[in-house]
Amino acid sequence: MRIGIGNDHSAVEMKKEVMKFLQDLGYEVINYGTDSTESCDYPVYGEKIGRAVVAKEVDLGILICGTGVGISLAANKVKGVRAVVCSEPYSARLSRQHNNTNILAFGARVVGIELAKMIIEEWLNAEFEGGRHQRRVDMIMDIEKRDE
Ligand code: RB5
Repeated sequence: MRIGIGNDHSAVEMKKEVMKFLQDLGYEVINYGTDSTESCDYPVYGEKIGRAVVAKEVDLGILICGTGVGISLAANKVKGVRAVVCSEPYSARLSRQHNNTNILAFGARVVGIELAKMIIEEWLNAEFEGGRHQRRVDMIMDIEKRDE
C-alpha cells in the first residue's frame, strides 16, 4: 500500500519519525511535505495530499501540521477527500469503519510520537464496514455534487 504524507514546518521531525514507522511496517511512503523548518503555508500540503489521494497516486494520505486542523480543512476542499483530524485512536478507527476516511490528520503540537503511532495503526488496520454507512458516506459526497 502507498501512503502519501504531507506536513508544514511545525511537523518536520514528526513527519520523519512517522515515515520511518510506516516504512518499518512495510508501507511505501511518498513524501509530499516540506523538509524545512522555515515557516510555510499548510494549505499547500493539504491540497497536495488531497489531490494525490483523489488521483490515486497513493492509496491513503497522512497530514501533520501544528494542530492537524488547518491542513485537514484544506484537504477536505478537494472533491473526493474525507479527511479526519484525530488526537486519539478510537475516533481514528471509527472514521475508517463508518466514514471511510481517506486522509488522517493530527497535530505535532497536540500528540506525541507514540500516541501518533497508535492513532495511525488503528486507522490503517480498520476497514470500512459499508452497509448503512455507505448510504451516509454517499450523502456526504452528494453535498459536493450540489455545489457543482
Ligand atoms: C502553523 O503555525 C500552524 O498554524 C499550523 O501548523 C496549523 O496548526 C494550522 O492549523
